[in-house]
Amino acid sequence: LAGELGDELGFSVYVVGGFVRDLLMAIPNHDIDLCVEGNGIVFAHALGKRLNASITEHIKFKTAILEYTVETDSGEKILMKIDIATSRLEYYESPGALPNVEHSSIRLDLYRRDFTINAVALELNQTNFGNILDFYGAQRDIKNKIIQPIHSLSFIEDPTRIIRAILFEVRLNFKLSLQTERLINNAIQLGMIKKISGQRIFHGFQLVCEEENTLACLKRMDEFKVLQEIHPILPLTDAKEELILELEKISNAYEMLYQKSKRENWVLYLLALCLGAKYLEVSELLKRLMFSSKATHSFLSMREQCRDMKFKIKAWSEMAFSPQNNKDKNIRYKMSMLADILNPLSVNAMIFVIATEKDADIRKAILYYITKAREEKLSITGKSLIKMGMSPGVEIKTVLKQVLDAKIDGLIKDKQEELNLAES
Ligand code: CTP
Repeated sequence: LAGELGDELGFSVYVVGGFVRDLLMAIPNHDIDLCVEGNGIVFAHALGKRLNASITEHIKFKTAILEYTVETDSGEKILMKIDIATSRLEYYESPGALPNVEHSSIRLDLYRRDFTINAVALELNQTNFGNILDFYGAQRDIKNKIIQPIHSLSFIEDPTRIIRAILFEVRLNFKLSLQTERLINNAIQLGMIKKISGQRIFHGFQLVCEEENTLACLKRMDEFKVLQEIHPILPLTDAKEELILELEKISNAYEMLYQKSKRENWVLYLLALCLGAKYLEVSELLKRLMFSSKATHSFLSMREQCRDMKFKIKAWSEMAFSPQNNKDKNIRYKMSMLADILNPLSVNAMIFVIATEKDADIRKAILYYITKAREEKLSITGKSLIKMGMSPGVEIKTVLKQVLDAKIDGLIKDKQEELNLAES
């Protein structure tokens, strides 16, 4: 469709970058980058109309983003995103600039990219539909599973590419070429990490946290001293690695249970990397990452909250699991008290608390709270109690809470038992 539209409008249209890389490796990718030789905005409007997509345009950069959903055969809805860029013909149009070079503008467009494996395009216009434009060895490097930049100044020009190189190496199970490792080390020695803005570092960190194998990325960043360069509190320790592994396991399991719930991986991994650091050091790190004062406050207080939580949970467990409370048979004992302790925690904090908890009984109890107790609902309502003759007000709230606690603790089960207890 994009090629047909290109033909109609007289523009050359290419799919470029990660989508083609993944296509060559048969990996699904729902983010499509198109490059248009002509006017990307005009093209975006025409394509957006055909696809019934929403359009966000940046007139200044002649780029646009289309977003739309498609339904697969199995009924699954997938959000598709198409980034449309205009290949900057004007740069090379002056007489004498790259004379007679076929595809000169797309060639230069690809040259500006990070790695050879990403500098590849697929023609979409009808005459050459499906033709691969590979000027810098993308197919060779994909075959050899090698990550290397297109030119030796790549990491100096844009040091965030150091994090991207590591990310692709781990995600695709490729290897950085020796020369790439040298270029990265060189850029780091030149202090290039320190020159990256806080927002861009944080964005790179967020991408790493969304990867399937975050720990492997962080280990590699540590090897290259990237973590150290961002802030001296960040380098890995055995305890941090152990905790990150736990977080990976728990948050994957949690994803299966609660896909809709809000979980932000970066919060979890940043909390882990700050393990053992002092309050002031963490504040300093957040300043480097250019967190707003609100975000700084919320991260620091979550850290404190998780720490306090450990003491409260410990006190609860000593009481709930004491020998006279028959620890093994009844993890629901005093579950409502644990629920009161855990209730104020966000999903992030809850996952972090479980991951840092070594006592298997306590973990079991917290998981029970997340998966079952938290969902417990009463069949009776305030109205039921008013019908029974209770007067509206605080008393009803207290009675409902007591009945819910009894249900969470497994002492009552059905509506009748709820009513009986409320009455008593
Ligand atoms: N790019 C770059 N330098 C960067 C970031 C991106 O040269 N610092 C280029 C890459 O060549 C990439 C393209 O811009 O192919 C689009 O970037 P992005 O969508 O972030 O990456 P993808 O390669 O599409 O990777 P992903 O599969 O993670 O989306």
